[in-house]
Amino acid sequence: QSPRAPLSRLEPDKFIDYSQLARRIEKSREIQRRPLTYAEKILYAYTDELDVVERGKTQLKLRPQRIACQDATAQMAIIQFMSAGLQTTAVPTTVHCDHLIVGRDGQDKDLPNALNTHGEVYDFMSSASSRFGMGFWKPGAGIIHQIVLENYAFPGGIMVGTDSHTPNAGGMGMIAIGVGGADAVDVMAGLPFELTAPRIIGVRLTGQLSGWATPKDVINKLAELLTVKGGTGSIIEFFGPGSETLSATGQATICNMGAETGATTSIFPYSEAMARYLQATDRHEIAQALGFASHELRADPGAEYDRVIEIDLSSLEPRINGPFTPDLSNPLSEFPNAIEKGSWPQELTAGLIGSCTNSSFEDMTRAASLAKQALDAGLKPKMPLLVSPGSEKTRETLHQDGTLKIFKDLESTLLTNACGPCCGSWDRQVMKKGTPNSIITSYNRNFTGRLDSNPATHIFLASPEVVMAKIFSRDLAFDPTKDALLTPKGKEFRFQPPTGADLPSKGYANADQVYTAPPLTEQDRSGVEVQIKESSERLQRLSPFSPWSGTDFNNCVILIKAKGKCTTDHITPAGPWFRYRGHLDNISNNTLIGAVNAETDKVNTVTNWLTGEDGDVPGTARKYRAASQPWVVIGDYNYGEGSSREHAALQPRHLGCVAIIAKSFARIHETNLKKQGVLALTFTKEEDYDRLVSSDRLTIGGLSGLEPGKPVVVAVDPTDGREGWKAEVTHTMTPEQILYFRSGSALNLMASRKNG
Ligand code: F3S
Repeated sequence: QSPRAPLSRLEPDKFIDYSQLARRIEKSREIQRRPLTYAEKILYAYTDELDVVERGKTQLKLRPQRIACQDATAQMAIIQFMSAGLQTTAVPTTVHCDHLIVGRDGQDKDLPNALNTHGEVYDFMSSASSRFGMGFWKPGAGIIHQIVLENYAFPGGIMVGTDSHTPNAGGMGMIAIGVGGADAVDVMAGLPFELTAPRIIGVRLTGQLSGWATPKDVINKLAELLTVKGGTGSIIEFFGPGSETLSATGQATICNMGAETGATTSIFPYSEAMARYLQATDRHEIAQALGFASHELRADPGAEYDRVIEIDLSSLEPRINGPFTPDLSNPLSEFPNAIEKGSWPQELTAGLIGSCTNSSFEDMTRAASLAKQALDAGLKPKMPLLVSPGSEKTRETLHQDGTLKIFKDLESTLLTNACGPCCGSWDRQVMKKGTPNSIITSYNRNFTGRLDSNPATHIFLASPEVVMAKIFSRDLAFDPTKDALLTPKGKEFRFQPPTGADLPSKGYANADQVYTAPPLTEQDRSGVEVQIKESSERLQRLSPFSPWSGTDFNNCVILIKAKGKCTTDHITPAGPWFRYRGHLDNISNNTLIGAVNAETDKVNTVTNWLTGEDGDVPGTARKYRAASQPWVVIGDYNYGEGSSREHAALQPRHLGCVAIIAKSFARIHETNLKKQGVLALTFTKEEDYDRLVSSDRLTIGGLSGLEPGKPVVVAVDPTDGREGWKAEVTHTMTPEQILYFRSGSALNLMASRKNG
């Protein structure tokens, strides 16, 4: 027996060493001089330069073992990686084609449509994956998190993924954190992933699920207790005897939806169920090597949590969460009252099962057991049922096992193994936008318009079992655990509790044909040409940004003095612009078009201070760039809050921005700006924001003497006859981040280090 095992079946040349992991955990316990929770053990074992950690304060420099990227976010991440001139990603990386596929008619039609519409993006990602040593999961292979669970997640591991439900892998005892593209690129390039040491929320599970209660109900309940904000800055760590009773895929469902509480990630300690799942998915070597560290793959006795929540699985009732927020939770028995109180549309119009949250073999077989009962009694679904399988592997397994036949007998629409409706890629034909209606789904999010872009659709979240049973009645209030339905023969029919299996008795089917491994040697990879057409409007190669010239930024103009909220959505709106995520120049045409001009209250209108003409914001920025005129943005409080999209920093940089000066910054955006070589400066005196006028010229001085903690002076030269004055600003750059600025970007710095 060896403590070493391949990281995955598909990467036989990369290894995890469990003896080494156990030693690292022991060492970090010595440094912390206290018992550690399981999440802490894994986090600290993979931290560079570990010192005593204060949760919520200490910055950790993590070394993830893996990166997984979904197709919507991978495009720009890969393009940036390419611009650094590196040959191979520093850690094993996979790309998953799951978000772009629209769901409408089922896989047979939808998948060819997607291949047609997004062909050039897929060709790019596939060729770039081969060129830079990344595994490529083709369109239709499955949803990123399901594929990670089946192939890459293992107890004691640590990974990042460019999707918010990356914590799904916590069901297999892995620290798995959702990050923005910029962080993923850093890790690809060999930089550490920086994270403030999270607080740890302990969730003690007791008892055992039975009857209709499922893992989904555990997380639906927890979402109610924690609310959509309660997990922020924390890891949710499960423990207690109840956690031993859940399947690995059930645990993944719970960790997946931990994201709905804002948690950094969620994790279960090692259990027998994980070893069984590893065996069933053909990862025997890891299952065996685990023995060398299994004693460490749980919390130490006496480990302290920042907060502990208790959930008794034995008394848990099925729950339905929603509409419009995942933390509005009602037990099934109280749901009819909630419908009345909320005046929610009483008629159900669709049911959806699957997604990365609930598409396991266990979910599908249990849901199918209910469908079979109803079909055998002569009942028919009363509304469309859409099924999104999580992966080709599980889909093929369900086919071989006969479960898919039951879904076919239901005349459900079997969608592509992809996100489809879950990420809004649902071409819902039958419901007119604006029509109030209710739908029920086993997915994880239910924000306004999330699935069908209809803000009047009320989305309710429940287990696949409850969704399946409820499609046999149009009444939203129907309680399948006790209410009766009438069969065509006029007889009363009541569901019996669902049954199913956590794992397929004959093991999972092989579906490796949906995966493309990169060529093994660097020599072979270097011959692969990355496919980007020069004429493409969706993809564009990036040139590295210019390094700092070594002189101060003299005589800068103010592109816009933004007022109030300026989120990443104001800086780079989504919607139709999504299409250009891989084309920096084209997507730059939306730069700051949502920001409010503090002097006119208008959006997307500013004065060009070189010509005196008014124009749109991105167009004016382009004119400044063409004239080699450096420009800045003046921001209000919490500039750049919202989603972590790195485009909000890349685009201004691309158009010639040298600095953003704001009252305060959202942390992630501030970091993204630093990574792209843009100065993120904060007014020492907030009232200086008010003193500045858009027509002022600014000189940002003393840049050769930039030091951590040392303020910077901005000389203000008004053009309207007022007297000149000086504003003091501060920055939060570390010595390393000052080097990003000097090099032109973090990637430039990495590339120069790698290339000697
Ligand atoms: Fe995809 Fe929905 Fe999961 S968008 S990754 S199936 S949360």
